[in-house]
Amino acid sequence: MNNELIYTDLPPKLIELNQIIYKLFDSKKIFLQNGDLGFASAPSNIALVKYWGKKDNELQLPLNSSISFTLGGFRAFTKVTVQGRIVEKSENHPSLFKHKLFLNNEKTGTKIPTKMEKIVNTILFPCTHSVALEITSENNFPTACGIASSAAGYAALIGSIADLLQLEKHFSKEELQYWLAQWARIGSGSATRSVFSIEDYFVKWNVENSASEIKKIYSDTFPIKYDSKWSNLKHLVIVLDSSEKMLSSSEGHKFVHTSPFQNIRLAGLNSKLDILEQAIAKYDFKKVQEISEEDAILMHAVMQTSSPKACYFNHDTSEIIKAFMEDRNRLQIEAFWTLDAGPNLHILYMPSATTFIEDFINNWKIKKSGHIQILKNNYSGGLMLGKSNFYEIKNKLNFTGTLA
Ligand code: PMV
Repeated sequence: MNNELIYTDLPPKLIELNQIIYKLFDSKKIFLQNGDLGFASAPSNIALVKYWGKKDNELQLPLNSSISFTLGGFRAFTKVTVQGRIVEKSENHPSLFKHKLFLNNEKTGTKIPTKMEKIVNTILFPCTHSVALEITSENNFPTACGIASSAAGYAALIGSIADLLQLEKHFSKEELQYWLAQWARIGSGSATRSVFSIEDYFVKWNVENSASEIKKIYSDTFPIKYDSKWSNLKHLVIVLDSSEKMLSSSEGHKFVHTSPFQNIRLAGLNSKLDILEQAIAKYDFKKVQEISEEDAILMHAVMQTSSPKACYFNHDTSEIIKAFMEDRNRLQIEAFWTLDAGPNLHILYMPSATTFIEDFINNWKIKKSGHIQILKNNYSGGLMLGKSNFYEIKNKLNFTGTLA
């Protein structure tokens, strides 16, 4: 196998867990054959304090820690099927059984992206000469609508491989959680915050801030404590523009250091994360609102002042934020907004704010002659492994996306 398609420089704890998998392959306790299946469904998430900028591009280590809210209703559904070799590998059949990807009901599969291939090859290392994976993945939300599809997609992919290998039988709960979070991160940074269970509404992706250049940098992801009132938090997205991004977020990350605002944003970030964590733990809505809105503005300020610029924000975005904040502040409603790397507004609110939000959206629709779409997140759920969970939740959710 081409060594460039295998990860070697992984965190020691992840290497240890992979070694366990390799031994299980050797001893035939894990045995993959043609037609074996793995299933998972994973939610997306929206960061309240964002991850923007990487310390390490290959292993996806962030420049700063982040905290997200899990978007249980916006999900990816992934199935992996083993394609076993029927003839021994030979020079004449070098491309027999290549991994294949089928996205959102496409009839013909495509070659999987290199990063995904590298992840799959490293996990299945001892047997990649004899098997390949057919990966079928669909989202229940439209693309380019301001919901991170890569977060849900990579979390579901890693989950489906864990299900295929039946890792729940071989790893402790903690080991499995760590393994899922680390592999999902390598696929897409924000995916590391999408591999937790149903009760884990808020997740922190923590990166060690070491002054030492020699020390390796690692990151860890874990759910954080929250006051039970947050389990009532509602979420929707106001889709102002559903066209594709001009600059993908994986490209955008690379230019953070060119922005004069980058150091300003980073300087206050660790204490803001601490305050946010405390505000989530004791239900301080105002603080969560303040920090989330401020960090969304700061992240977009960094994006817009980088070279090249990543202008995800548009005129409608600033107009709607201004109107929302004026009304919300005047009426003292428990609701706040945030943005991802796009122009579309995420609104998070408590049930007491429902009428306010509905009125606000209706007025905005009239103002914009109906040219906005609302995506309601009306399900709460974390990562789910296994076929029965997969079909149960797929049937529950409106599969064309909940566009209202
Ligand atoms: O997960 P990536 O590598 O596509 O980066 C996306 C980062 C943001 O969504 C903009 C912020 C975040 O923390 O999710």
